[in-house]
Amino acid sequence: MIKTIGIVGAGTMGNGIAQVAARANHNVIMRDTQDSFLERGMSAIDKSLQRDVDKERLSGEEKAAIIERVRATTELNDLAAADLVIEVVPENFAIKQEIFQALDEMLKPEAIIASNTSSISITKLGATTARPDKVIGMHFMNPVPVMKLIEVIRGIATSDETYQSIKELTEKLGKTPLDCQDSPGFVSNRILLPMINEAIFTLYEGVATRESIDGIMKLGMAHPMGPLTLADFIGLDVCLAILNVLHSELGDPKYRPCPLLKKYVDAGWLGRKSGRGFYEY
Ligand code: CAA
Repeated sequence: MIKTIGIVGAGTMGNGIAQVAARANHNVIMRDTQDSFLERGMSAIDKSLQRDVDKERLSGEEKAAIIERVRATTELNDLAAADLVIEVVPENFAIKQEIFQALDEMLKPEAIIASNTSSISITKLGATTARPDKVIGMHFMNPVPVMKLIEVIRGIATSDETYQSIKELTEKLGKTPLDCQDSPGFVSNRILLPMINEAIFTLYEGVATRESIDGIMKLGMAHPMGPLTLADFIGLDVCLAILNVLHSELGDPKYRPCPLLKKYVDAGWLGRKSGRGFYEY
C-alpha cells in the first residue's frame, strides 16, 4: 500500500505531482536543495488549488488540508519513511544517478523508486540501484493537475508487482496510466518532439511566421497550443535535451535538433520560464 510519497524536486512538475498526490489523500514529503525552491513550489500549489476554490470546486478548508499534507524539506533523509519516491530533477543522468543511489541506501527494502524522466532510460536508472525490480518510470504531463495521462514505463528488470502498484496508484490519483516499453523518448516525446522540431525548422527556413505556424496547428489540427507556444511552455532547454537523447540513442539524423533551437538555448532564451523563447512573456 502506497501511503507516503516522497518527491525529489519542487519545480513545476515536482510541485504539480505533490499537489495531485496530497489531493488524493497521500502524505507527501517534497524535497529540494534550497528553501527558496521549496517556497516557490508551495506557493505554486497554493495558487493552483486557489483556482478550484475560486470556482467553488474546493472549499478553503479542503485546500488548507491538502497543503497541510505536503511537508517541505531540504533533507533527503526525511524521505526515508516513504513507500514511493518520485524523482523529478533535471534531465541529467549524473544527477539522477546520485539521487537514485542515495535513495536506494536509505529507503525501506520494499519501497519503489520512480522517475518522471522524459527521456532517460529506466533500465539504466534501475541499474544504479540494488533494487532494479522496484524502479519504474512515471511520466507526468504539464500542467500536472490538468493533464490526465501518466505514461508508465517498465525497465527491463521492473517487476509485475511494482508495475501493478504504480498502475493502481495512478488511478487513485485520478489519472489514466498508459504503458510503454523503455525506449528513448518513450511514446509521448518520440512523437511530440519531432513535431516541435519540425515547427522550429519551418520558422528557421522562413516558411511562415511564429503566429502562422501556431495558428495552423491550433485551428487546423485542434491542438490546444501551437507547437512553438508549447515548446516555450515545456522549456526550450528541455526540448533540446530530449531531442539530443532521441538523436544520439536512436542514431537517426531525422532527430537532429534545429540549429535555431540550439541558438535560443545558448542565448538563455528558454521559453516562458526565462521571459523569452519563440515569444516574449
Ligand atoms: N493548475 C491547475 N489548473 C490549471 C492549471 C494549473 N497550473 N493550468 C490550467 N489549469 C486549468 C484551468 O483552471 C482551466 O480549468 P477549467 O477549464 O476546469 O475551468 C483549464 O485548466 C484550462 O485552462 P485555461 O482556461 O486557463 O487555459 P487553456 O484553455 O488555454 O488551457 C492548458 C491551458 C491546459 C495548459 C492547455 O493550453 C493545454 O492543454 N496545452 C497543452 C499542454 C500539453 O501539451 N502538455 C504536455 C506538455 S509535454 C510534457 O509535459 C511532457 C514532457 O516530457 C515534455
